[in-house]
Amino acid sequence: MKYYLTTPIYYVNAAPHLGTAYSTFVADLIKRFKKMEGYDPVVLTTGSDEHSLKVERAAEAAGTNPLAYTTKMAAEFISQWAKLGIDYDHFIRTSDPKHHETVRWLFERCEKNGYIYKGSYTGAYCVSDEAYVNDVNPGDPCPTCGNPTETVTEENYFFKLSAFQKPLLELFEKNPEFVKPDHRRNEMIAFVQQGLNDLSITRTNIQWGIPAPVEGHHVFYVWFDALISYMSAVKDQDLWPADLHLIGKDILRFHAVYWPAFLMAADLPLPKKVFAHGWILHEDNKMSKSRGNVVRPGPIVDVVGADALRYFLLREITFGQDGSFSYDALIQRYNADLANGLGNLASRTLTMIHQYRNGLIPNSAGSPDIAEAARRTTEITMDAFCEFNFSRGLETLWSFISVIDKFIVERAPWKLGKDTSEFAQKMLDEVLYSAAEALRILSAWTYPVMPNSARNIWIQLGMKAPIESVTFADLHWGKLAAGQKIGSIAAVFPRLDASAIVKMENLEVQEKARQAELFGVHKAAAGPAAAPEAPALAESAKISIDDFVKVELRVGQVVSAERVKGADKLLHMQVDIGEAAPRTIVAGIAEAYPPEAMVGRKVVIVANLAPRKLRGIESNGMIVAASLEGGKPVLAGFLEDVPVGARLK
Ligand code: MSP
Repeated sequence: MKYYLTTPIYYVNAAPHLGTAYSTFVADLIKRFKKMEGYDPVVLTTGSDEHSLKVERAAEAAGTNPLAYTTKMAAEFISQWAKLGIDYDHFIRTSDPKHHETVRWLFERCEKNGYIYKGSYTGAYCVSDEAYVNDVNPGDPCPTCGNPTETVTEENYFFKLSAFQKPLLELFEKNPEFVKPDHRRNEMIAFVQQGLNDLSITRTNIQWGIPAPVEGHHVFYVWFDALISYMSAVKDQDLWPADLHLIGKDILRFHAVYWPAFLMAADLPLPKKVFAHGWILHEDNKMSKSRGNVVRPGPIVDVVGADALRYFLLREITFGQDGSFSYDALIQRYNADLANGLGNLASRTLTMIHQYRNGLIPNSAGSPDIAEAARRTTEITMDAFCEFNFSRGLETLWSFISVIDKFIVERAPWKLGKDTSEFAQKMLDEVLYSAAEALRILSAWTYPVMPNSARNIWIQLGMKAPIESVTFADLHWGKLAAGQKIGSIAAVFPRLDASAIVKMENLEVQEKARQAELFGVHKAAAGPAAAPEAPALAESAKISIDDFVKVELRVGQVVSAERVKGADKLLHMQVDIGEAAPRTIVAGIAEAYPPEAMVGRKVVIVANLAPRKLRGIESNGMIVAASLEGGKPVLAGFLEDVPVGARLK
């Protein structure tokens, strides 16, 4: 039986961040889980939402045309998803002619069935959300995102959404699985019960859109266009209706109200389920480009791997609710659950098999208690994963890890190993088999969440069949074959320390700069359409957070210091800021701080200052100090210990 699922298609005016990667990770997880469940084929569509005024303006600001701009951005999404190991089947771009054709086809079906009419609209419009906004005065902030609204008056084609109030309420009533979680379904019921206004589904003020098959210049409203991508991606493949649309809670209304209404009007089957997850928060707010608080997945993947990030997001946050991301919490979970938990179980089990049984899985049925614990673990995890309650599933798997750890400690195989009696050796076989079989089941279960690490453990166990082919039938106790030779042993999750955070933060700064370049931020500023350079700011002028984050302040530690010959005030120092080699920094602090007072001292460095030469020495950074009128400089420092390289924000 087929299973067809989708991620939202992403706006291309922002690069992927942890928030957008979240929907994509979970979709990849569900795809792998559904395959284990036996669905075939399991097909996943993702893509890029390319039309809209917002994109038209972004392309213009970057000094290019919308198609060239969106092609570059779609490529960025594709390469990021590859880096994160996302196993999707289709990447649909809304600029694809096949999609254009599907949109027109669906519109014509709605029109033929009498659900389209021509009318006029004047009101407030939020460009950022691409939505009309009721109950605000033009220019007021949008109640959803806070950006200013614009007034638009348009003669448009309307979709008779009002005709679908009753059918939608019936749908929610008869099919409680259609919108999940339940509290989101209740929100949709309340929304539809208030009554539905007809929806304007064409625009005349935009060039960059799909032309509607009507007289005059009309392009489709971006949401009418975007939702249909779920169908156009799999046109003629016998996969419709979708089994699951995975989305964030902010776009639920479009999926749970507009989309089924469009499909009903066109007389087409409805998707089976729309699941709305919560938001990834960072610094107490929804992570988003407009708030400027995004964290990019690439640098995290470079340092801890995609699996650790996936595990963190799925274990830490109850799927469906909001949850926070921080580098600290990520490293803590990694060390506690992955390095000390699963990773440690894998290495101790495999090492003991190597040591006591020459690397061969012993012949034993294993401990009946552990077998029963494994059976219960599978039962609960299965229920949890089927309900998309991944954090509960993972919690259950990790409780099982604790059970086995305790079992190993109680049975003390290191003592049994020294006892040559038949009884002791049989007991040792039982302990080793139980631990290895538990590890096999755990790697199969963790595969949808952490595909690479699970595969790694699977191979170390010497399993022959690829982990990708595992089904639920393989999760039964006792499937691990006696006599199987284990593979070579290597740590799956090496422990991490605070320097991992410094590395991720450093890479994040580089990645941000790379993406700014890619998105044409610099080009736009330098281009002919750019505003003239702003006059120097008055001393009291406020700067935005974006201005502040341009200054890269880091904790450094002075490695060596000496006076600069012929310059009383200057010290020539080597300062370690967590990079491959210490930086040379020349600072005018010698009158207040002799060289010997500086060695070993932690200081605050401006790390992204252009280099400059002082007395023939190239200085690569500046030390931050209070400059007292007529007095000596006083270095900035910390009362608590801080790691070298940490960023100040
Ligand atoms: N283009 C529309 C979707 C059209 S689907 C036919 C869109 N794009 S988006 O890029 O803004 O968002 C895509 C998805 O990312 C949405 O599901 C949104 O909820 C999700 N997220 C964006 N920021 C998020 C967080 N900070 N946290 C979790 N998910 C968030 O909307």
